Amino acid sequence: GHKKDLQQKKILITAGGTREPIDPVRYIGNRSSGKMGYAIAKAAVERGAEVTLVTGPTVLAAPVGVKVIAIETTEQMRLAVLAAFPDTDIVIKAAAVADYRPTETAPQKIKKTDDTLTLILQKNPDILKELGGLKKPNQLLIGFAAETHELLTYARQKLVQKNLDMIVANDVTAPGAGFNSDTNIVKLLYRNGSSEELPQMEKDKLAHVLLDRICSFV
Ligand code: PMT
Repeated sequence: GHKKDLQQKKILITAGGTREPIDPVRYIGNRSSGKMGYAIAKAAVERGAEVTLVTGPTVLAAPVGVKVIAIETTEQMRLAVLAAFPDTDIVIKAAAVADYRPTETAPQKIKKTDDTLTLILQKNPDILKELGGLKKPNQLLIGFAAETHELLTYARQKLVQKNLDMIVANDVTAPGAGFNSDTNIVKLLYRNGSSEELPQMEKDKLAHVLLDRICSFV
């Protein structure tokens, strides 16, 4: 059994990738499988937390005991997260959120009449940044940073700009790390400027290490 060090804590976790519709049959998506976020949700339930999981489409079964809110678009994720946030102690945003969406969704399937097709994209709201602005002193905000280059620079920027307590920096080009892998390799950056490098580990194991660190703040 696990120690029940998150009893009475309300934890909001996001997982998977968002999808932005182009037309009724196509979307812009990303390679997130949901494994990282689902592992955290499962670990948090094991430790006694009350868990809400806001999830993009995945093939994974929801962990037993978790309240699941299924979404597709970033705007749907945003609305679900903002609704749950006031009554949440800890937010962990493992989801891979689309930074841009098509400015309009075609009402009918786009036909392949032209040799080139231009899509115009509109920047999406940054959900985590919005939460950073709303955060109360008794709430903890944990983000992820998925990067292909300059990992620590960008992760540090996100930690500061989004007003986070901790960010999980993920070099998604490393073998055995990032999207769809069963393992991950991350560095943890903290609000106070300190950092910690973790070895490659199963996402299930990493989920518990992340919660160990979070418990040391609360
Ligand atoms: O799902 P898996 O296949 O297991 O893969 C795991 C993972 C690689 C998706 C995960 O470990 C990870 O790194 N998740 C973050 C992916 C991401 O979108 O990173 P980002 O650097 O673009 O975003 C930074 C943070 O802001 C994230 O916490 C993200 O949820 C949040 N964000 C980003 C954009 C946006 N519009 N709103 C947000 O809330």
